[in-house]
Amino acid sequence: MVKRLRLKLAVYFALFVLILYELGVLGSVGIFQWGLSRSMDILLQDLLAETRPSVEITNDIPSLASWARAAKREHSPVLAIVQIYDQNRKLIQNFGPAGVKRLASGHIFNKDKTISVRSLYQPIIHQGKAYGFLQIQVSTASDDKIFNDMLLATFLVMPFLALGVVVAGYQFAGIALKPVEETLSLFKRFVADAGHELKTPISVIEAATETLSAVEGSDPIAKADLEFELNIISKANKRMKELTSDLLFLAKVEDQAIIFRRREIIMAELIEEVVDQFRPLARSKNLIIELDATSSVIIEGEPESVHQAISNLLSNAVRYTDQGKISVRLSESEIHAIVEVSDTGIGVSEADKDNIFHRFHRSEESRSREAGGAGLGLSIVKAVLEAHKGSVSVESELGAGSTFIVRFPKKLV
Ligand SMILES: Nc1ncnc2c1ncn2[C@@H]1O[C@H](COP(=O)(O)OP(=O)(O)O)[C@@H](O)[C@H]1O
Ligand SMILES: [Mg+2]
Repeated sequence: MVKRLRLKLAVYFALFVLILYELGVLGSVGIFQWGLSRSMDILLQDLLAETRPSVEITNDIPSLASWARAAKREHSPVLAIVQIYDQNRKLIQNFGPAGVKRLASGHIFNKDKTISVRSLYQPIIHQGKAYGFLQIQVSTASDDKIFNDMLLATFLVMPFLALGVVVAGYQFAGIALKPVEETLSLFKRFVADAGHELKTPISVIEAATETLSAVEGSDPIAKADLEFELNIISKANKRMKELTSDLLFLAKVEDQAIIFRRREIIMAELIEEVVDQFRPLARSKNLIIELDATSSVIIEGEPESVHQAISNLLSNAVRYTDQGKISVRLSESEIHAIVEVSDTGIGVSEADKDNIFHRFHRSEESRSREAGGAGLGLSIVKAVLEAHKGSVSVESELGAGSTFIVRFPKKLV
């Protein structure tokens, strides 16, 4: 249980760190890109201011032809993209490397996204009259590539980072959960030790009451009194014995050690055996037990605990039913062996349906009955099913009866 919790904590921690990491990367790349765009815009503004005086207007048409010729003469290549558009936003002149042939400001692309540039334009106004637009662009191809590579790199390191964080998280969770684990195992050991220690005095009392009841006395009244008291002691002792063995059994099942003692179990055989054990008790209460166990389903489990679980369900069915019948049915689904134990007894209230699986919980109705256990029977059923990765549930109507359903994973063939 603690191990699962530890892994869960580690995974949550890793997810949290990875999300933070990705947000951090995206955030810093975004801020960096924004800063770069701003400095490019300042550069573009300077270039526009520098180039603007070289625009000549001939026949109402703006041109940079002589500026380009001069640049060529001086062997100074045009590094930025310089474009002239007419009043209808149509490109009329284009110098420098390949750019995006469209009037726009900002980070823009050509149609097939092979060219990306930062672009800025301004109207060409001469003596109060507008003649068109001057646009300057610088390629952002290399910057885009750097950013893309950077993002790709952060994604590529993610699996390694995730692994590292999970391992670290698992270690930290282990440290944090250590006291919990220790307390839990201390508690389990205490229950087991106390159970063992109680066994001896219980047997001593058992033997002593037996001896005393065999004593032949001369006074019949004193003998009757003695028998009465001995009967009380012996009943109390029997309850204590059952309680101790239930506690010990529960401790054993929860210890998960039973996992290592798994064997193939032919469910029909096991169930028939349990049902046969309960027939005499049922008969004494005038109850019949119907058995439908034709399924040949096989599970992999620890026989003693599976036997105990089914036995506890039948014991309850008999105990909490005064008239009618008890039916036991074995069936299988694709992955489960399903055992249903139904009775026509007192039923379980809606509010009690979860609680009855808790230790020592007994419903009001059953508490008032003389016959009753300590309230550990269903906790054992639940623990057994958990140890087998199965489940237990109850369907019931107060006063009409109950059906307890347990599911064991089938042995895969
Ligand atoms: N078949 C049943 N019909 C009605 N109530 C039941 C049945 N089985 C269990 N219960 C309720 O669940 C409680 C817990 O059951 P269990 O753990 O076996 O303890 P116990 O039988 O010792 O009381 C019982 O006290 C009873 O209130
Ligand atoms: Mg019981």
